[in-house]
Amino acid sequence: MPEPSAARRTVLKGAALAGAGTALAACSPGAGNSGAGSPATPTAPVDLGAAAEVPVGGAKLYRENKLLISCPAAGRYKAFSAQCTHAGCVLDKIEDGEGNCPCHGSRFDVNTGAVLKGPATDPLPEVPVKAQGGRLVAG
Ligand code: FES
Repeated sequence: MPEPSAARRTVLKGAALAGAGTALAACSPGAGNSGAGSPATPTAPVDLGAAAEVPVGGAKLYRENKLLISCPAAGRYKAFSAQCTHAGCVLDKIEDGEGNCPCHGSRFDVNTGAVLKGPATDPLPEVPVKAQGGRLVAG
């Protein structure tokens, strides 16, 4: 079998490098899960939909809005930024009353925003929220 030409080797090498560049871009800060680069809290009021979607005594993540809403008692709501104060990842789930950061494992109290487990050291910023006509509006 003949050796591939130098030109073909160059093309293959270029394709391999392009593939590596794609992989690196997917992991860079600002892409994927990290919310870095956009505000941690809404700059204008955000309609989150039906208030009934947040369980009494529980909480719900609105990842697309980077918000965490908890309902400590019927008709009472608290809202926090869902952007981790460590390096800016958006929380991915709520377990046992704790919001979880998928990047380095920080955990936050869904009713106070307090850090329960590091590496984050600062609490989640609180955001004003109210229920209007059965809908939640935050920010
Ligand atoms: S970004 Fe959340 S723990 Fe590091």
